[in-house]
Amino acid sequence: MNITVVGTGYVGLVTGACFAEMGNTVTCVDTDQAKVARLNQGEVPIYEPGLDAIVQNNHKAGRLSFTSSLSEAMADSSVYFIAVGTPPGEDGSADLQYVLDVARQIGQHLDNYGVIVNKSTVPVGTADKVREVVAQQLDERNLDIAFDVVSNPEFLKEGAAIDDFMRPDRIVVGVESPRAREVMAELYQGFSRNHDKLMFMGVRDAELTKYAANAMLATKISFMNEVANLAERMGVDIEQVRKGIGSDSRIGYSFIYPGCGYGGSCFPKDVKALMHMGDEFGYQTDILCSVEERNQAQKHRLYEKLSERFADGLSGRTIGVWGLAFKPGTDDMREASSVTLINRLIDAGATVRAYDPVAMDEARLQFPDTVFAAGKLVLCEHQYDALADADAMVLVTEWKPFRQPDFNAIKKLLKQPVIIDGRNQYDPYSLKAQGFDYTGIGRDRLG
Ligand SMILES: NC(=O)c1ccc[n+]([C@@H]2O[C@H](COP(=O)([O-])OP(=O)(O)OC[C@H]3O[C@@H](n4cnc5c(N)ncnc54)[C@H](O)[C@@H]3O)[C@@H](O)[C@H]2O)c1
Repeated sequence: MNITVVGTGYVGLVTGACFAEMGNTVTCVDTDQAKVARLNQGEVPIYEPGLDAIVQNNHKAGRLSFTSSLSEAMADSSVYFIAVGTPPGEDGSADLQYVLDVARQIGQHLDNYGVIVNKSTVPVGTADKVREVVAQQLDERNLDIAFDVVSNPEFLKEGAAIDDFMRPDRIVVGVESPRAREVMAELYQGFSRNHDKLMFMGVRDAELTKYAANAMLATKISFMNEVANLAERMGVDIEQVRKGIGSDSRIGYSFIYPGCGYGGSCFPKDVKALMHMGDEFGYQTDILCSVEERNQAQKHRLYEKLSERFADGLSGRTIGVWGLAFKPGTDDMREASSVTLINRLIDAGATVRAYDPVAMDEARLQFPDTVFAAGKLVLCEHQYDALADADAMVLVTEWKPFRQPDFNAIKKLLKQPVIIDGRNQYDPYSLKAQGFDYTGIGRDRLG
């Protein structure tokens, strides 16, 4: 099939590359011309394990190309994926300007029957808006061309995106017309040899499914963080509680790891967008409000723990931070807990030395030049450099190289053997035996 994918971010680029890998001919479109130029030179602008090879191989084989001209891309295809961003607006609602802009352009260039697929995460009712915008453009061109709008939300995880796309748990397709359903079934047959994976449903059902999935996962995390904070006050080890409840098959182990809050480009914005949908539909989403509030507060826990430990103040102290990305496996720092922590430390007069295996370039963009110029934030080349003469080490992102570090080296480097573990990676008993002053999340008065 000939496919157009609009937007070459984490979702669009993975979608385009994976469809090309299955033998389809894919043209990816992005308004960011610098990005398109890099992609045409075989350079992948984001970090996603395995993506480079798939993009480069398919580009070389002529199945994957990149352009900033949507009309050029549309000339050869009849399926158009919209995979542009839907960032949060000021009121928390999903900002649809990019999606509707693409819809308008599709309407300006559509010449034959086409299937327009919303892959971006969009509120219930967006397919109707896309349909209206396209129809209006066709009206203005005095054309009567049939088209369908389908909802096909994406469930990939950054850091495991290729595997998730190639071997999905499910493929949700919201579709009303039999013609579009046939196109989508053909498109996804290679990814769903077990046909149960392809789930057809109503367009609005599919739109809500995506938000409900992310909100459920966010709820599990915030719930566990709440219990962890309670455990700290009770002298209980939350890690024992986690194992104790995760073994219940009705609960399971996924997404019940306590930590310093969820971030990324999806959970925070999708929870807020669903709350906003609640307002629009006259329903108060109490659980979602609490999930969001708990998460906002949880992102401050590491700073609070440092403040408790250094009761005489953090001004003039140096803190070593391991991990900047919002989770391991990605360079994405959108809504990362590291940003909250570092901003608060700098505001308090501390100096931060930080290291991340892949997000260092992204970190340079996240903070103003002034903090680097003033030496308030130093990005270090190696993980141990970040701890040199620091008053404490804080683990924010649980990258693999941080999981079994050389604690002897850490102890020698730190001015004081203080470890704040935002992801409960280390054993409090063993660290205390080695002379560390250790605090995790939900495991404070242990050892
Ligand atoms: N990142 C994830 O893990 C993930 C997972 C599932 C779903 N989603 C959803 O997928 C959507 C895209 O997310 P992302 O993380 O890939 O976004 P992103 O910000 O990484 O990429 C969006 C891309 O779209 C481009 N763009 C914007 N307007 C355009 C236009 N008019 N024409 C062409 N290109 C345009 C931008 O230049 C950018 O390259 C969002 O709705 C998001 O919620 C994201």
